[in-house]
Order: sequence, then C-alpha cells, then structure tokens
Amino acid sequence: MKVAVLGAAGGIGQPLSLLLKKGLPAGSELALYDVHPVVPGVAADLSHIPTGVKVSGHGADKLDEALKGCDIVVIPAGVPRKPGMTRDDLFNTNAGIVRNLVAAGAKACPGACYAIITNPVNSTVPIAAETLKQAGVYDPRKVFGVTTLDVIRTQTFVGEMKGLAPEDIKVNVVGGHSGETIIPLLSQLGLDFTTAQIEQLTPRIQNAGTEVVEAKAGGGSATLSMGEAGARFTLHLAGALSGNESVQCSFVAVEGRSTEFLALPVRLGRNGVEEVLDPGKFSDYERKIFEDMLPSLKSNIDKGLAFARNS
Ligand code: LMR
Repeated sequence: MKVAVLGAAGGIGQPLSLLLKKGLPAGSELALYDVHPVVPGVAADLSHIPTGVKVSGHGADKLDEALKGCDIVVIPAGVPRKPGMTRDDLFNTNAGIVRNLVAAGAKACPGACYAIITNPVNSTVPIAAETLKQAGVYDPRKVFGVTTLDVIRTQTFVGEMKGLAPEDIKVNVVGGHSGETIIPLLSQLGLDFTTAQIEQLTPRIQNAGTEVVEAKAGGGSATLSMGEAGARFTLHLAGALSGNESVQCSFVAVEGRSTEFLALPVRLGRNGVEEVLDPGKFSDYERKIFEDMLPSLKSNIDKGLAFARNS
C-alpha cells in the first residue's frame, strides 16, 4: 500500500502524516510531498519512529515521484480560513491547487483513490472528479471528500451533552462540509433530546470549524482534529482496499439524489465505494434543514465543476 500526503508539511499534513506512520500496516509506503522546503525534514523526523512504514519526503519539483504507484492520495494542501471567512472564500486559491495536484495524479497513479481535505470540500471534490474525467481516468468510486471531522465532532458534542463515551456514539452526518450543508442525523441516535437540545447541538456542529478558526484568531483552522479525522478516514480506506470493509460517511458522487455529490454513509471495499447506503430516517427538523441547504450545496458543486471544465 502506498499513500501520498500532498501538503504534508502543513498544519494538517504533519499530524496526519504522524498518525499514518503509526497506523498504516507494516510494509506500507508513506510519501510526503509539499512545496515547503521543510518536507524532507518532516520525513526524516517521522522516519525515526519505529514502525514498518517507510517514509519518503518529496519537495516542490518531485510531485510525480511522490505520486508514482500510489493507492491513496490524501490532499490537505492549500490555505486555511481566517476569522470572518467562509470556506467558499478559499475557492480562488485552493481550487487551482487541487486541480493541479489531481491532474498530476491522473498521470502518475491513474487508479488511485483520492481523499480530499482541502476546502471548500463541497467544490474541490467536484473539481477532482472533473479533472480525472478530463484525463480519462475518473472512477466515481475513488474520489472522497473527507467529512469525518463532522462525525467526530458530533460524537464529542453529543457525548458531552449526554454524559456518554463519545467513541461509542455511532452517528451519520450527511449533506456537505460547510455550515448549513452539514446535517447531523441526531434523531437516529435514539437519545431523548429535547427540541432545545437539538436546536443547540445542530448549529454547534455546523459551526464547529468556525469555532476553531475564531479561537485561533488568524492562526488558521482546525489542524489537529482534522489530522485525526483525515487519518481515521484514510486508515479505513486503506483497510477496505485490502479487504477489510467498513462503513464511513464521506462526500462522494451519487446518482438519483438531489445533488451530484453528497455526504452519505458509504460501504468501503476493495474498489473504494462499493455501495452508497441509504442514510436512514430523518426527523422533520432534519428533513427541513436538509431541503433548505440543497440550493447552496448545489451551487458549491456547480462552481467546482464549472471551474474544472473551463480551466
Ligand atoms: C473544519 O471543519 O474545521 C475545516 O473544514 C476547516 C475550516 O475552515 O473550518
């Protein structure tokens, strides 16, 4: 198994790479790529941790070398938000970064899976899909927007509110990965939430990224929890490619739904998405906030597709 982290020297890339170095099976390769010249040092640093994962570092002009033969390409590269910005405000900078990285992957590792963290995920995933399509190597089962942070935040906040162990809470978070498009399906948990609790928890989950951006006061967005979320998703995907199936929520291409891409629970297997699963029953409140956010999600998706088609 070869995994590349593109943007490996950044705030998300470093903790993510550490967790992959510790979590990937022995015999795996972990290729760290970044335009920042510190990347060989990050690779040297990680390589001193005694696991069976071989780490290599690749600087700005070594993208092809990092990507060659990859099974999974994880992309946290790009700029983070500052207070007052939405994820969509990152589009102008990050859209081109994702397109260029995925275009290189289309040549160097045409059968790879992509786990995209770079925001705005609602647009960068369609950009990746369209870029691969233009290169003639698109497989909709292999392009994922990482929405695991929405799931683990929901586990944490529900656990805090109800006095439960967060890791035992199994919850689906559907829709997209920005503000109102994040729809936690709290009604499925079978916990006796009051309406007031639902109306407090849901916006907290939707705005949790902004909570971190504001707390970091101009120093970026979530890096450690996103590193954890990205690593969890990547390790599940790596396991699935090797035959250990699992169900995870992710923002993927879908058919016969309200939008072309949607975060839903998916069954991961040897080919990536083996099956997009039914998300289960929604409460009236969840149905309403889901329907209300669709125009905004659709516009994020269309913006990404238009960018990739016109560039
Ligand atoms: C998050 O959810 O924390 C990330 O998408 C980063 C951000 O800008 O909020």
